[in-house]
Amino acid sequence: MATLLRIDASAQQQDRSLTRMLTTLFTTEFLHANPDAKVIVRDIGQDPIPAIDHRFVHAAFTPPEAREDWMTNRLALSDALIDEVVAADIIVMGAPMYNYGMPAALKGWIDHIARIGRTFSFDLARGDSPIEPILKGKHLVVLSSRGEFGFEPGGPRAHMNALDPAIAACAHYFGVDAAHIQTVAIEYQEFKDARHDRSVTAAKEATRALAQQFGKSAKQTIFHQTDYPEKRKDQTMKDFPTHTMESAPADAKPILQAALKGYGFVPNLYAAMAEAPAILEGYTTLSAIFGKTDLSETERQIILMTNNRLNGCKYCMAAHTTLSQMGGVPDDVIASLRNDTPIADSKLEALRQFAIVINESRGWPTDAEIERFLKAGHTQQTVLEVILGTALKTLSNYTNHVAETDLDSAFAANVWSSPTVQAAE
Ligand SMILES: Cc1cc2nc3c(=O)[nH]c(=O)nc-3n(C[C@H](O)[C@H](O)[C@H](O)COP(=O)(O)O)c2cc1C
Repeated sequence: MATLLRIDASAQQQDRSLTRMLTTLFTTEFLHANPDAKVIVRDIGQDPIPAIDHRFVHAAFTPPEAREDWMTNRLALSDALIDEVVAADIIVMGAPMYNYGMPAALKGWIDHIARIGRTFSFDLARGDSPIEPILKGKHLVVLSSRGEFGFEPGGPRAHMNALDPAIAACAHYFGVDAAHIQTVAIEYQEFKDARHDRSVTAAKEATRALAQQFGKSAKQTIFHQTDYPEKRKDQTMKDFPTHTMESAPADAKPILQAALKGYGFVPNLYAAMAEAPAILEGYTTLSAIFGKTDLSETERQIILMTNNRLNGCKYCMAAHTTLSQMGGVPDDVIASLRNDTPIADSKLEALRQFAIVINESRGWPTDAEIERFLKAGHTQQTVLEVILGTALKTLSNYTNHVAETDLDSAFAANVWSSPTVQAAE
């Protein structure tokens, strides 16, 4: 069941607030598309979150086992707010612009959500990026309103917009990466003229469309990276065979022989797939076709590794790290793909983000997400090739999930575990 967390930050009550009108519209349409969804309402405009103080900071940075009672009490609201975020798949946030930034209540909410050990980990061993988010895979819809206009990138007041960039900068604390933020904003509220009327109409349409889209896609279970089972051995399923050249079905043998010739060994993935020669042929044929696309080796591995990571396939993460190293993919790109951190090259990062969108949305990118991808310098051809790479990894990742494929020694040096799991350890 999908869970929507609705946050209202306007100090105004329902009948006088444009952002509340939009969050209400979003919630209504979302529930219409997905009647089984759960909605959590947190009204921080009417019931403001207090600013944090020295006692909060002291309590938050004291390890849980060393906390005194007053510290636990001081963190109780923060814990409750974080629990709501953890439960949510989608966060819809009514966020008016106040004095070019966010309402104090919203800042208070964010300050209560950003908690070491609960929403982020901090480790100087990570070099210049010591902060790593703990929550992942959530979507954020920001429904805003402004008295003036032109705060969008490139607009006449873009340099005064201290609201949208501030929300985006903190979104990783609530499990949202930049590619998963959608913003709708009413403008010209103070002018109350035809431009304002048009802006309200457009914002309502955009809000309705987003709510329907999220409602429909959330109807299918939204997948969290942390949800995949670490080990399925103890379950009732029967072990799957790892074939040898002798035991493999006849139709699989020529493919295993070709692999032996190419790699010098038969990868255990192929040996597992051999039980169904059709999937082995499908996978190897599609791999060869994917290798013939116009994508560079680095781009191909970005698509494949992103899917491996999101699908939690340890075998393919280790194998493709090795293949990436052999294929000349830069070390920093490989590290980003393994650790889920941004790639320095913005065009490659846009490809990584789009591969995430395709995987997590189950192939339902929004127009804005496609637009952002194309604006980064990619093409519609690449959109479709990302889908091809996603399909390819479905075959191998899912096979490894059910067969629990053992890692080949050739890939052992690149053993991988999820950064989310690492952060929790
Ligand atoms: C305290 C306050 C500060 C505001 N500051 C700005 C501002 O800096 N820039 C702007 O464009 N509009 C500003 N406005 C206008 C609001 O953004 C606008 O009225 C918006 O519709 C408020 O959201 P709401 O209708 O959901 O309450 C401000 C409004 C208030 C009440």
